[in-house]
Amino acid sequence: MKFFLDTADLNEIEEAASWGALAGVTTNPSLYAKIGGKLDDFHAHIGRICEIVGPDCPVSAESVAMTRDEIVKDGIELAAIAPNVVVKVPTMVEGLAATRALADKGIPVNMTLCFSVPQALLAARAGARYISPFIGRFDDIADDGLQQVENIVRAIGNYDFTANTVNGEQVEIIAASIRSANHVTQAALMGADIATVPFGVLKKMVQHPLTDRGLDAFMKDWEKVLNA
Ligand code: E4P
Repeated sequence: MKFFLDTADLNEIEEAASWGALAGVTTNPSLYAKIGGKLDDFHAHIGRICEIVGPDCPVSAESVAMTRDEIVKDGIELAAIAPNVVVKVPTMVEGLAATRALADKGIPVNMTLCFSVPQALLAARAGARYISPFIGRFDDIADDGLQQVENIVRAIGNYDFTANTVNGEQVEIIAASIRSANHVTQAALMGADIATVPFGVLKKMVQHPLTDRGLDAFMKDWEKVLNA
């Protein structure tokens, strides 16, 4: 499993990138609004994220357009920011059509707001490079988001979509809307290719009380060695 950071916060991205295990970043309009982002700075901000993570890390930037042609126009402009930009497109009819058009132009798309197997299969057929099933938002309505991820991973794995995607690359499933380290564990066991996690969850993923206790004991015992 690869790890993406789900944020538009440059400090969080810099910090996570310095840990050496970051493979990409996903943003969305809410995350950009959360950091006080302004419309006229949006493209520059995505450019700054791309610079921090480097050319090998995909950075998803979302189109807020609602029609095929507007999404395609948005997507072309976003893709021009940096070679590692991935255009995030909502899973809807206009979004599917735009995804096909962008994929045909060699622009990778992350189909977002995906909640079902049929949506995921359509996204893959339309040429999506990434598909993002949301876990937490299902849980918010007392449903089982992880079960949907498991179903989607299995359904996508039943078929070969390489001919549909940009440069014939393998479509990858991004477990999104992650709220806990356990979501990451379960999504990994289900075979999701990527987990995109908020910085708070990433920090919790590193921690374990037995690691803290063990480290504490090692340090105390090493003091004895130093004083012997
Ligand atoms: C995915 O790419 C989305 O940005 C994100 O995971 C949504 O998460 P949320 O449901 O916590 O807002």
